[in-house]
Amino acid sequence: MAWPGAGARSADGRGVVRARVVADRDRRVERGDRGRAVNALKVEMFEGLCTTRAIRRYLPDPIPAEHLAKILFAATRAPSGANRQPVRFVVLRGGDAGRPAREVLGRAFRVAWAAKRNSDSFYRSDGSDPDSPRTRQARTIQHYVDHLEDVPVIVLLCARLRDGTMSFLDGASVYPAGQNLLLAARALGYGGVFSVWHLLAVDELKAAAGIPDDVTVAGVVTLGKPAGRHGPVRRVALADVVYDETWEQPAEWAADPPGTRLTRPGPAAPVRPRPPSGGAE
Ligand SMILES: Cc1cc2nc3c(=O)[nH]c(=O)nc-3n(C[C@H](O)[C@H](O)[C@H](O)COP(=O)(O)O)c2cc1C
Repeated sequence: MAWPGAGARSADGRGVVRARVVADRDRRVERGDRGRAVNALKVEMFEGLCTTRAIRRYLPDPIPAEHLAKILFAATRAPSGANRQPVRFVVLRGGDAGRPAREVLGRAFRVAWAAKRNSDSFYRSDGSDPDSPRTRQARTIQHYVDHLEDVPVIVLLCARLRDGTMSFLDGASVYPAGQNLLLAARALGYGGVFSVWHLLAVDELKAAAGIPDDVTVAGVVTLGKPAGRHGPVRRVALADVVYDETWEQPAEWAADPPGTRLTRPGPAAPVRPRPPSGGAE
């Protein structure tokens, strides 16, 4: 993919902004909380924004405390309505005290996924092609919910309610924090996914984690070292979603960067050798 900004000067004017992550060359070694070497990737910002896929399969490696602190710090730097900063984070790191909440989540996620899998036509594969993108994604999500209790880190994104209700502003303020969290995790070599499947058992979850009545859990982010890898996300083409000045007026200037693929809805197809002509999928 050709990245806008390639070759431009960095914000501080000292260096050249690099167009791509060259993982091996950029791999730095940081020290984990037990002195273990932990690989961290330096990800150029635009690349990170466009390649932070939902990661649902994790290696069992724990996330060192200093990495978690960095990730949470980035999450708290996100904007919120009137800068009220209503978001609170309950971090389940694998300790005994967090086990009941993990178990509630595991049950809720499995029920939610079973319902979605049966009701969502997208996932109702006829099973004739075990390697079709939808079958593979369904398999990944099944694996995810089956192993939810063992995900290295689960973050409950909580919001304090005003007057006992969730205002639009309070709710909406959780999402930038969730995205910052995912991007910061990505920058340190981790992956994750945002989820709302806890809503099926939110009261039980609150009781299990000791969350008071005037706080709700607006989202859940799971995190860990990816068993797979990040890569370009599948999103619709700019021409389909950007309008010029008024509704549905084509924005001729809003073109996807040259070489952009994956511009149709649906899970990513398996990586196969590309035909010589290339082009958009
Ligand atoms: C508001 C919101 C709610 C989501 N809820 C769930 C969820 O309950 N379960 C889940 O597995 N993924 C959930 N996701 C992740 C999306 O399914 C995922 O980001 C989307 O399919 C695009 O996949 P990609 O990020 O890998 O491109 C949610 C994402 C957002 C932003």
